This record gives sequence, structure tokens and C-alpha cells, in this order.
Amino acid sequence: MKILVTGGAGFIGGNFVHYMLDKYPDYQIVNLDLLTYAGNLETLKQAEANPNYTFIKGDISDRGFIMKLFQKEAFDIIVNFAAESHVDRSIMNPGIFVTTNVLGTQVLLEAAKETGVKRYHQVSTDEVYGDLPLDRPDLFFTEETPLHTSSPYSASKASADLFVLAYHRTFGLPVSISRCSNNYGPYHFPEKMIPLMISRALADESLPVYGKGENIRDWLHVEDHCSAIDLIIHGGNAGEVYNVGGHNERTNLEVVKTILRELKKPESLIQYVTDRPGHDRRYAIDPSKLERELGWKPKYHFDTGIRMTIQWYLEHESWWKNILSGDYKNYFSQNYRERLEQG
Ligand code: NAD
Ligand code: DAU
Repeated sequence: MKILVTGGAGFIGGNFVHYMLDKYPDYQIVNLDLLTYAGNLETLKQAEANPNYTFIKGDISDRGFIMKLFQKEAFDIIVNFAAESHVDRSIMNPGIFVTTNVLGTQVLLEAAKETGVKRYHQVSTDEVYGDLPLDRPDLFFTEETPLHTSSPYSASKASADLFVLAYHRTFGLPVSISRCSNNYGPYHFPEKMIPLMISRALADESLPVYGKGENIRDWLHVEDHCSAIDLIIHGGNAGEVYNVGGHNERTNLEVVKTILRELKKPESLIQYVTDRPGHDRRYAIDPSKLERELGWKPKYHFDTGIRMTIQWYLEHESWWKNILSGDYKNYFSQNYRERLEQG
């Protein structure tokens, strides 16, 4: 079995490469990644020694390059993680989200159709469903919830999902889609809330909480996301969408306070700052289809998963400190300077 993993130098893709190499010693895993600011080959150091692993640098939206690659490699399965993935960046610079997330997906779909892959899997997000009100804990996103996006990021992911489903209906391409809630775990880029708060708390820097910190996210350990995708690409039906989530809803403030408690840092580090424009209030996934049809069960509860994750950041300081000392500095001052001054 030859699997193309796109975006495998990013957070979830990198974890997926490790997961698959460990679980399927006879599979060949090809990792295609453009190595944007979010791609980091340090994440894949261990995989590099494995003869079943290959890295290729390239852009999923480069039609000529992708077609040649697919013709040469004859992949069985494509798992598309490659994306611009940060909501705040999509507010500052939406255009690249269309190029990578929408056009890039269509280019991959076309190449998959032309070369007859067994499965094209799109790694999507619960953000395509928009948000839920804070005062209705009884409501959850199901696969039937209408798409109703808020940010340029989620709009681009929803557009991509529609192309994936169109390639199934129109051309019979065997596709599947997973829509997962917020992930956390090792190799998470420190622009996202959990690693940002861990790294800043460790440096005794202020923790910028958007608005009042009341927004709710449904956290899933990245390994549980990997196991869901593994089940879907092997046993999921073509043309189907599967929601992935483990019922671990927390307000942002609860998460930040948990991190501070674990690190024995004072709550006075919290700084309330200007809210994210269009900020989604609550995400909450109903994963019962995946559980019922494919027997998926998450391994980690948030309370243990977050402790393991904090420990990972303590033990892998050089991985995230290298990122903080590079290009990321420019983004941080662009996104936070005014917020922190006003907060
Ligand atoms: P990430 O930003 O950490 O990684 C994205 C990777 O894609 C990077 O390695 C980057 O270099 C690569 N990439 C970007 N543009 C590319 C291009 N044009 N060609 C090839 N490679 C390119 O993202 P992540 O958090 O690991 O998310 C992976 C996928 O999962 C995304 O599609 C995202 O929408 C989805 N998702 C993320 C979460 C989450 O909580 N992080 C939850 C649900 C779904
Ligand atoms: O739900 C899945 C999505 O989760 C994925 O599709 C996205 O790729 C991923 O980035 C994530 O999106 P969020 O916007 O939910 O994640 P983020 O870590 O950026 O923010 C989590 C919450 O924390 C959100 O309510 C905004 C808030 N936040 C974030 C940052 C970066 C803060 O309060 N302060 C911050 O500095």
C-alpha cells in the first residue's frame, strides 16, 4: 500500500506519518509538503531513518507538478492534510487560503481521478458547520448540520469539502471526509491557543485571551484523530462524511487556567485582549456515526491528554524554541501588538 500524505510536516500530518509508520510496517508513506512557515522537518527526524518513508517538497496547488507526481508514483490512498490552518492568519491574509485550501484540493482531486486512486481522504474541520450558541449545551454538530461558515479559513475548508463531494457524485471518485474538532498534542505549532499559552506561561509572559475567554472548543488528542482517519481510509464508505470528536468541551479560560495550574504559574499572567473578529462561540461534535459504523473510540480524556502534552512541551523545548526565534516573531507582533496594547 502506498499512501500520499500531504502536509505531513505540519502538526496533525506529522503525527499521522509517525502513527502510520508504527502501525503498518509494510506501507510506503510519501510525505508531500511545501514547508510553509507551519511545516517543520524537525517533526519527522525519527521517520527519516525508515526506508518506507519518503519526503517530497512541493505545492499541492501546482497542477503540472502534482499530475506528474501522481503518474510516477501510482498512489493507492491520498490523505490531504495540507492547508493554511490558522483562523487569525485567514483574517489578516485570506487569499492564500483560497489558493491552498480550495485550488490545492481541486488539483489533488483531479490527479486522483486521472490516476485512479483507491481512496481520496480529505481532512476537514468542524468549523465548516459554523458555531453553536453558548446557552444550548444540548446542541451538537452532526454530519447533517448545514455548512455555515464564519472565517475565511472555514469558508475555504467548506468550499474544498464541496469539491470533494462533487468529484464523488460527478466522477465516481472514491472519497471520504473527516470533520474533526480542535486537536492538541505533540508538535502543535505555537501560534495555536494551547501551545501558545504553554510556551508563554513557561517564559512568564502574558497570556492573551480573546474577549472574555467564554468561547468553547471541543478538544481531541491528535492521536485519536489519527486513529479515526486510519479507520475511515480502511473501512469507511466512499462518499461519506465522518465527524470526529471526543466530548471534551472546555471554555478557553478553563483551558488556560488548567495550563497555569499544571505549570504552577499565577493566573495574573492572563491578559484579556480584543476579541477575534467573527469569533465562533462553541464547537461540539456528535461522533456517534464514526463510533457506530467503524467502532472508533478515543483513547485520551482531556484531563490526562493535556498533562501529557504539557510534559511533551517541557521535554521538547528546542523544537518550539526554534520556531519562536524565527519568522514567527513577525506574525506575533502583527497579530498581537494592538490587541495587547488595548487589552
Ligand atoms: P498545520 O498548519 O500545522 O500544517 C499544515 C501543513 O501543510 C504544513 O506542514 C504546511 O507546510 C503544509 N502546506 C501548506 N500549504 C501547502 C501547499 N500549498 N502544498 C503542500 N503543503 C502545504 O495544520 P494542522 O493543524 O496540522 O492541520 C492539518 C489539517 O487538519 C488541515 O487541513 C486543517 O484544516 C485540518 N484540521 C485541523 C485541526 C486542528 O485542530 N489543528 C482540526 C481539524 C482539522
Ligand atoms: O475546530 C477545528 C479547528 O481548530 C481547526 O480547523 C483549525 O485549523 C485550528 O486552528 C483550530 O481553530 P481555532 O480557531 O479553534 O483554534 P485556535 O487555537 O486558534 O483558538 C482556540 C480558541 O482560543 C479560540 O476560541 C480562539 C482562542 N484564542 C486563540 C489564540 C491563538 C485566544 O483566546 N487567544 C489566542 O491567542
